[in-house]
Amino acid sequence: FPIAVLASGTGSNLQAILDSVHGREGIEVVAVGSNVADAPALERARRAGVPTAAFPLADHPDRAARDAALADWIERQGAGLVVLAGYMQLLTPGFLARFPQAVVNVHPALLPAFPGLRAVEQALEHGVRVFGVTVHFVDEGVDTGPIILQRAVELPHARDAGEVFEHIHAIEHELLPEAIRLIARGAVSVDPANPRRVLLEP
Ligand code: GRF
Repeated sequence: FPIAVLASGTGSNLQAILDSVHGREGIEVVAVGSNVADAPALERARRAGVPTAAFPLADHPDRAARDAALADWIERQGAGLVVLAGYMQLLTPGFLARFPQAVVNVHPALLPAFPGLRAVEQALEHGVRVFGVTVHFVDEGVDTGPIILQRAVELPHARDAGEVFEHIHAIEHELLPEAIRLIARGAVSVDPANPRRVLLEP
């Protein structure tokens, strides 16, 4: 089950994928792409022997052209699932049309609360007591696609984003690999009666 991972930053979620699912249960990371040429995530991939490529927007006429080149490369690498692990760019409709129901994202909040950037900061400012992580399919909206997995963590005394992020990252590093394993096993489908709803086989 060949997968591609896209990441813009540190790549701790990529590392969790490389450490816990890559090379197991038939799952193989065959490509790691970024919009940032010197993203630390790319170095993590190289260390694991995984092919990498960078597609900075500045190298292409526009987002549609950049995403077309990115999709071409992912297809050439043979990936059937695209995992966004801190990929800080919106994918164009043209890209998504080439990987239908096959792009997943990890978001550091319990969607549909706090979509978009600075989700943990938004949640803190709102004064919530329960934080969490969502893994979802990507559609054309911002963090709006069908939800695959969620996990909550009660932090009634959290004071700053750093403190919350320690818990959030630990959850992400389990939940994103778990979602990949479920998809690879064919245990994830969309409810024909309600395309917003994901069905999970036990
Ligand atoms: C994660 O918190 C993820 O939820 C968000 O971006 C962050 C990426 O972190 N989309 P890392 O680069 O995987 O460490």
